[in-house]
Amino acid sequence: MMPLVIAVDGPAAAGKGTLARRLAAQYGLPYLDTGLLYRAVGRRVLDAAGDPRDAAVAEAAARALRPEDLQRGDLRGPPADDAASNVAAHPGVRAALVDFQRSFAARAGAVLDGRDIGTVIFPDAPVKLYVTASPAARAHRRWLEVSARDPLVTLASLTAEMAARDAGRDAAPMKPAEDAMVLDTTALDADAAFAAAVALVAEKLDRPDLTN
Ligand code: DC
Repeated sequence: MMPLVIAVDGPAAAGKGTLARRLAAQYGLPYLDTGLLYRAVGRRVLDAAGDPRDAAVAEAAARALRPEDLQRGDLRGPPADDAASNVAAHPGVRAALVDFQRSFAARAGAVLDGRDIGTVIFPDAPVKLYVTASPAARAHRRWLEVSARDPLVTLASLTAEMAARDAGRDAAPMKPAEDAMVLDTTALDADAAFAAAVALVAEKLDRPDLTN
């Protein structure tokens, strides 16, 4: 039997990371934050003083990616954010990372969070969640997170930045898989979003016992 794969997709700051991590703990599955792959590829390019907008350079970095790259301490923050969003726009980079993501789940299943897990990486995943929230709620959550380390950052600048990133994704347009269950977290805190997700997973697998 194919091990259980739960695909958790959605835009930035909709709450999918927290949710995916908790689902993994709940079901005893390995967890992969696939954003880290794009961040690590972006970092590799920056390390070599390359330009993340250069498709050939970025694709070579993606092919050279090693699991230990995901442990780096510098994968968050503005330089990595920018580099990641630039490398993620190259179809060659996305293609180079497909096997890494599939092998991660091959042995014991997994919860993977990202943008195209349910559409491209695991189109046959038995459980697909598309986690979303209003642009205003997402910008506000991002602001709460970022303002803790950068008190000068404004809600307006984060709102604009997020809209630009959402709009700039051609290689893997943000759309839910046809068979994804949409979870709108605009009005939900982390606990309520988790409870709603667990109920959806149990319903999908037809396992009411899984909600306990
Ligand atoms: O979720 P995140 O902010 O860590 O993602 C980093 C960047 O990588 C962001 O620009 C979106 C992109 N990404 C992607 O294109 N596909 C994924 N599966 C995960 C992230």
